[in-house]
Amino acid sequence: MNEHDLLNISYPSVEQARSEMARMLEERPRNYSLPQPLYNDPHMFRIDMEEIFQKEWLFVGMSSEIPNRGDYFTVEIGQNPVLIVRGAEGEINAFHNSCRHRGSRICDSHRGKVANLVCPYHQWTYDLKGNLLFAGTEMGDAFDMKQHGLKKAHCKVGGGFIFISLAKEEPQGDFDEFLSSLDEYMEPYDVENTKLAVESNMYEKANWKLVIENNRECYHCNGNHPELLNTLLEWDDTNDPRASQAFLDQYARQSAEWEADNIPHQRRDHGNNRNRIVRMPLKDGAKVMTIDGEAGCKKLMGRIRNPQMGSMRILHLPNSWNHMQSDHFIVFRVLPVSAQESIVTTKWFVHKDAVEGVDYDPARLRQVWDATNDQDRILGEENQRGINSIGYEPGPYSETFEFGVINFMDWYSETVRKNLNGK
Ligand code: FES
Ligand SMILES: [Fe+2]
Repeated sequence: MNEHDLLNISYPSVEQARSEMARMLEERPRNYSLPQPLYNDPHMFRIDMEEIFQKEWLFVGMSSEIPNRGDYFTVEIGQNPVLIVRGAEGEINAFHNSCRHRGSRICDSHRGKVANLVCPYHQWTYDLKGNLLFAGTEMGDAFDMKQHGLKKAHCKVGGGFIFISLAKEEPQGDFDEFLSSLDEYMEPYDVENTKLAVESNMYEKANWKLVIENNRECYHCNGNHPELLNTLLEWDDTNDPRASQAFLDQYARQSAEWEADNIPHQRRDHGNNRNRIVRMPLKDGAKVMTIDGEAGCKKLMGRIRNPQMGSMRILHLPNSWNHMQSDHFIVFRVLPVSAQESIVTTKWFVHKDAVEGVDYDPARLRQVWDATNDQDRILGEENQRGINSIGYEPGPYSETFEFGVINFMDWYSETVRKNLNGK
């Protein structure tokens, strides 16, 4: 906890903090940024963790990161370590990474491969389904191994995207419809035959909502993202009020090509803008989001033959946005660390047969988004610093440039209020 967090402990009880959160969200003007405590107070952060990150579906990674039996990766959802592992039948399971003996973390690496899951503390051993196989002889005859399997997290996969939920009961809603859309829209990419080419983990001293707010608008792009704007069109989709006739003509031309190849591209929304897919052209002439718009990898993905696929943008609130292109795709994941700290993970995927140094250069692949992420990190950190000021008061969002932020805030506010009410 940093100095500022300590100064901000202002709610005498958890109940008071929860009712204050509900009041602030209820009274917030819809088109304004949030009151200061929602961006910097540790009590409010704890409620975000309990009501959003421990209840809702979260994007954690791609199925092709763990192609074979026993491959795993780990994530930390706040203080909750979770491991995601490929099982014997090819299924993907998520477990709380906490031993049923005395609670030690079982997998301490970021990723790896195991035959069984062995706790490093006293070597209790679990199979890939989480069943306890071995606990030594020291536990006595009455010890019931069946009662001490690993605790599961809910886990679902759509179009290669792995989502988990730490809720006791699986979250209700139309999430399965989003997963079906992901299957349909990701089919051309043949995700199981892709591989992780390179990954970055960026620490940002900003509340997770500031990271997402920043991502949900491109109002800041002109002044901050020269590399990205070599290829990215700022329009959010064809309905964007700022879209020009030249853009609409380009869209008509490119979408006709996609139609001819049976490539899904039309905007699809699920859950009131919570989950959204849309394929958008890049700047005219650009193939992918590299520094010069030319290929990042010589092998196209899956059944794709047209290098000009634009970027299929996939949004999943609360923690992911993604860019799917012709020769590589990029996934982004945000995980909160504390009230004023987040981790942004970016992963670049290519065809699994693409050879590093021959078909692709990881440095070229990551160049634009490394620069963009760092620019966004500075914007997020400066935003946080200014919000921490006694001079901060919520300010207005632009309906034409920041409607994505308004959508995010509506979803956030509605979800927290629903979950606080236990509905
Ligand atoms: S805590 Fe895992 S074996 Fe003891
Ligand atoms: Fe940005």
